[in-house]
Amino acid sequence: MGEEEDKQNIVIAIDGFSSTGKSTIAKQLAKQLNYIYVDTGAMYRAVTYFALENHLIGEGFFHSEQLIEKLDGINITFRFNEALGFAEVYLNGKNIEKAIRTLKVSSYVSLVSTISEVRQKLVEQQQLMGKDKGIVMDGRDIGTVVFPEAELKIFMRASAETRAQRRYKELLERGHNLSYNDVLENVTTRDQIDSTREDSPLVKADDAIEIDNSDLTIEEQIKTILEMVYDQRS
Ligand code: DC
Repeated sequence: MGEEEDKQNIVIAIDGFSSTGKSTIAKQLAKQLNYIYVDTGAMYRAVTYFALENHLIGEGFFHSEQLIEKLDGINITFRFNEALGFAEVYLNGKNIEKAIRTLKVSSYVSLVSTISEVRQKLVEQQQLMGKDKGIVMDGRDIGTVVFPEAELKIFMRASAETRAQRRYKELLERGHNLSYNDVLENVTTRDQIDSTREDSPLVKADDAIEIDNSDLTIEEQIKTILEMVYDQRS
């Protein structure tokens, strides 16, 4: 890659509440810009999946000390799937892309994400992945902790009902059997834990641009953000 092109590559941080459509937007942006896309929520979900598989977390218990001890044995990687057009997440070599999208993983992931040792491990890996820029990363603390110097920061919002409706539809389409109220409760509980945890809570960075997408189409959001990217690079 030439020096000129290097200079133009930026870091795009997309943060926001659960199910605001961050990953849909981030994936499409990365595709259009030929950037790498990293779904950091998938990494926290992968650790949660590991904890569930190893009976370190479950109804009424969380052996967080044991999880911390086992962190070195957790290897999270992404591999691009040509057919799907995005990178899938692997845990110790096993594809867990589908397994981490269940309501069970969703209901424990915020708790696992409060553990500082977990965050430290994942943030280090995220910073390495973005060191050459040309990356779109979505999560909760990307603009505040992972890349405080990101050239473009977006903070996404939408009403809890809109988000639960979107997530409910998505889960039904994937064949999950659950109620809208369970999804709404999960969305609001996660917002609460994510925004109030001590380490790296979900907050809007001072220099992030806020987008409420309750009434915006995906195309409208992509167009708006691409304009910001081109402004930033010119
Ligand atoms: O984006 P998501 O819904 O897949 O994220 C799952 C959970 O992971 C979310 O409820 C909080 C946590 N998370 C986090 O703490 N920090 C991030 N950068 C990304 C996700």
